[in-house]
Amino acid sequence: GGVRVKVPASTANLGPGFDTLGMALPLYSWIEMKPAETTVFHLYGGEMSGLPKDKSNLVYQVAQMVFAEAGVQVPELEISMYSEIPLTRGLGSSASAIVGALFAANLLIGAPLDQAKLFDMATALEKHPDNVGASLFGGIITAVWDGSHADVLRIDPPADLEVLVAIPDFQLSTSKAREALPRQVSLQDAVYNVSRTSLLTAALAAGRLDLIPAAMRDRLHQPFRASLVPGMSRILAEATEHGALGAALSGAGPTLLALADRRQRTGQNLEVFLLDVLAEHGIRARTIWLE
Ligand code: HSE
Repeated sequence: GGVRVKVPASTANLGPGFDTLGMALPLYSWIEMKPAETTVFHLYGGEMSGLPKDKSNLVYQVAQMVFAEAGVQVPELEISMYSEIPLTRGLGSSASAIVGALFAANLLIGAPLDQAKLFDMATALEKHPDNVGASLFGGIITAVWDGSHADVLRIDPPADLEVLVAIPDFQLSTSKAREALPRQVSLQDAVYNVSRTSLLTAALAAGRLDLIPAAMRDRLHQPFRASLVPGMSRILAEATEHGALGAALSGAGPTLLALADRRQRTGQNLEVFLLDVLAEHGIRARTIWLE
C-alpha cells in the first residue's frame, strides 16, 4: 500500500521574526508514495515539470533519509507530486516538499519517527525552522533552532486574522535574498526586533490584533532586501493607511504579505494598493486572500 499527504504552504518571519516565526497558508502540495519495482516519478502541474525525475529528486532523497534513520530499506519508490504553491516566491514551496517527503516516508513505514524528530530533520535540511515548522505543525509557530535540535510552539491563528498575499510574477532565490543581509547588526537594531517579535507573538497568542501594527516592524532583514522587490518599502510603510494591520515580505520574498482584521472590511482597497504600487515599479503580481 501507499500513502498520500497534503502539506500547506507557509510564510516565514511575519516581519520582525526573522528565522523564528512562521504561519501555514491554505495553499497545498500533495505527495503520494509507495514501494515500487523501479523508482518512477509523476510530477503534475506546470512549475513542477523542471524538477528531476530520478533519484536525485529532493523528495526521493529525503525519503531515503527517513528510511536510513529508521533502519528500514525501501530502495525503489513510486512518487506522485502535485503542488499549487508557486515556486521560489517566498511561500515555502521547498519546505512543503521536505515536510511532505519526511511525513509520507515515515507514514509508509508505520511512523517510527515522532514529529519532533521530523522537525529536526526538516530544519537541518532547510537550514531555518520557520517554514518547515509551519508546514509540519500548521497554524502560527514560533521556533528555536540550535543547529541540531529545534523547539517549537504552535499558536492557533486569531479567528479574525485575514491574510492577503501579492505574488509577483518573478522568482527570487532564498540564497540571493540571504546574501543581501549584513553579517553584523547593532545592539539597538537587535533590541528593536526582539521587542517587536515578542510583542507580535504575544499579540497573536492573545488575539490582540490591535497590537499588530506596532509589532510588525523589522530592521534585521527587510531593509536590506528592499531593493530586490521594488515597491516593497512603500508597501511596508503605507499598508496600514490602506486598512492592513501590517505588511511584510513573505519569507525571503518576493511575495508580499498583509495582515488584516476580518471585522474591518478593507478588502479591495488593500488589494488595489498592493497591485498599484508594484505596477508602478513595473511588477506584475496576483493577489490571493488566505485564511
Ligand atoms: N527566514 C528565512 C529568510 C525564510 O528570511 O531567509 C526563507 O524562506
